[in-house]
Amino acid sequence: MKQKWNRTEERFFGIGIYQPKTEHNIGTLWRSALILGAKFIFIVDGKYNGQTSDTLKTWSKIPFYRYDDFEHLYKSLPYSTQLVGVEMNENSTPISTFVHPHRAVYLLGAENNGMPSKVISQCHHLVRLPGETSLNVSVCGSIVMYDRLAKTELK
Ligand SMILES: C[S@@+](CC[C@H](N)C(=O)[O-])C[C@H]1O[C@@H](n2cnc3c(N)ncnc32)[C@H](O)[C@@H]1O
Repeated sequence: MKQKWNRTEERFFGIGIYQPKTEHNIGTLWRSALILGAKFIFIVDGKYNGQTSDTLKTWSKIPFYRYDDFEHLYKSLPYSTQLVGVEMNENSTPISTFVHPHRAVYLLGAENNGMPSKVISQCHHLVRLPGETSLNVSVCGSIVMYDRLAKTELK
């Protein structure tokens, strides 16, 4: 029997951090990612050997990729997937009006320096959260994932 196409099946997302500095932040982000529906997690040019803040051991449940550098991530993007840079940038769309791509890879910046302009310029979309000063990277990523969930899955 021919199966009816279910458009909700067209969606997935992954999330990761560029040059992460604090393993505690990575573990906290992974825990949120698993709960909020990420299909994969990753770091770009960083170290991670497990963290107690990831009580769910997310890496044992969904793929955890480690990319050598931004080029490695970029050429490894899944087919028909858009890279969304999460950054306080003049070109970023406020989260309140942002329309999440069906298939998205969310990239967050390093705790100390954010993302370099070379990386920012290659993102397909840029999104920012409110505030004059930056949020903690894992808090920021968690809010972005919740926003995606609220605008899509919870409809
Ligand atoms: C602590 S912030 C980096 C701050 C860094 N000192 C800077 O000036 O770029 C770490 C990352 O969290 C994310 N982030 C934090 N607050 C944000 C906001 N309001 N909007 C978008 N991204 C944010 C970005 O990905 C950022 O690169």
